[in-house]
Amino acid sequence: MAMDQSSILVIQHAAQLVSSSSNGRPRRGKEMADLTILADAALVIENGSITWVGSTKQLPEIPNSAQVIDATGKTVLPGLVDSHTHLVWTGSREAEFEQRLQGKTYQEIAAAGGGINATVASVRQASKEQLKTAMRRRLERLLRFGVTTVEVKSGYGLNLADEVKCLEAIGELNGEGPLELVPTFLGAHAVPPEFRHDQTGYVDLLMRQMLPQIAKQKLAEFCDVFCETGVFSVAESDRILKTARDLGFQLKVHADELTPLGGAELAARLGAVSADHLLCITDAGIDALADSRTVATLLPATAFFLSMDYAPARRLLERGVAVALASDCNPGTCPSENLPLAGTMACTQMKMLPAEVLTALTVNAAAALDRADRIGSLEVGKQADVIICDVSNYGQLFYHFGVSHVWRVIKQGRMVFAA
Ligand code: NIG
Ligand code: FE
Repeated sequence: MAMDQSSILVIQHAAQLVSSSSNGRPRRGKEMADLTILADAALVIENGSITWVGSTKQLPEIPNSAQVIDATGKTVLPGLVDSHTHLVWTGSREAEFEQRLQGKTYQEIAAAGGGINATVASVRQASKEQLKTAMRRRLERLLRFGVTTVEVKSGYGLNLADEVKCLEAIGELNGEGPLELVPTFLGAHAVPPEFRHDQTGYVDLLMRQMLPQIAKQKLAEFCDVFCETGVFSVAESDRILKTARDLGFQLKVHADELTPLGGAELAARLGAVSADHLLCITDAGIDALADSRTVATLLPATAFFLSMDYAPARRLLERGVAVALASDCNPGTCPSENLPLAGTMACTQMKMLPAEVLTALTVNAAAALDRADRIGSLEVGKQADVIICDVSNYGQLFYHFGVSHVWRVIKQGRMVFAA
């Protein structure tokens, strides 16, 4: 095979490199703590892919033209995958934050016209360029925290034109790089004000107009529904998601976030790629996920910001569920891009071990985006999405919390960030 030597990148002498083969599947339950860790490690990248991983001593001879990074004292990891965000917004909602601190609930604020629909009003006013400008800053922050792939949901447009505007903004920023953006249609995020007295009318609009048009324009890979008391019922979510599935979307569900409605069971039954939030999941919901291929995506920073009880991560792990972690970055319930901090919260608040957290932020998060065959681990043949952290082992990433330890970010073999 002819090799373009100039595109060879070698990382060597890493104090630690976590490779963790996955065979293209998420790790479930006990397997999540089982990392493959190499010391004084090296990694070779050719044309955007990983071609060699091992001990620096055994590194094959490399051409003089190769770019070499000395990672002495540092930790090499797969790029983090943020598999659940709502990054397409303008405006901010700090006033609601204060209202919650004074005792109002998220649902009460939403019922009074705040919440998601407050952001909808702002996003409908915004141009696509304004949305992209706001998003670029968020993506830049995610990159600095080591994120190389990010799922982004629409859901603050809530009519065809504004949802299309949001999804186009995601698509255009994906084209700009360096992060890969995975677009999700979340038209079923809330019932917009003009349908306040006609919920069925909005569900019909979603199924008859919005979903078919978005499928036709290929603007989204996933369809998600906020299945929640007072938002979309299990029956409505079921109808919307089945329509989406028939149109070729893969499925995600905002499930059992604020009340135990049965969203996890629905996600499992429909073969959704992930069921997300799960703060209020029941034992029946846990059983349903354990018997399915649906990844449970937990968002501890949201529970933190809403002052709610955390999702039962240990029970999910004990039942053998594949658990992922994500930021949920959004203007209402989690205005933060600090994904490693969500990892620390998973440790202290849900008793996940740092090894489990790393799996949940990499290969399992990749599986939550149906990409575990391509990203999420440092294996020969995988896309070279790599971060080098200025710490001597991965545990420090979650132990020394609240700051970014990321020193270099490599996306598809190209260095895209240097601290
Ligand atoms: O994931 N649950 C619904 N959606 C977001 C909140 C969005 C908002 O409040 O703007 C969430 O928590
Ligand atoms: Fe969410």
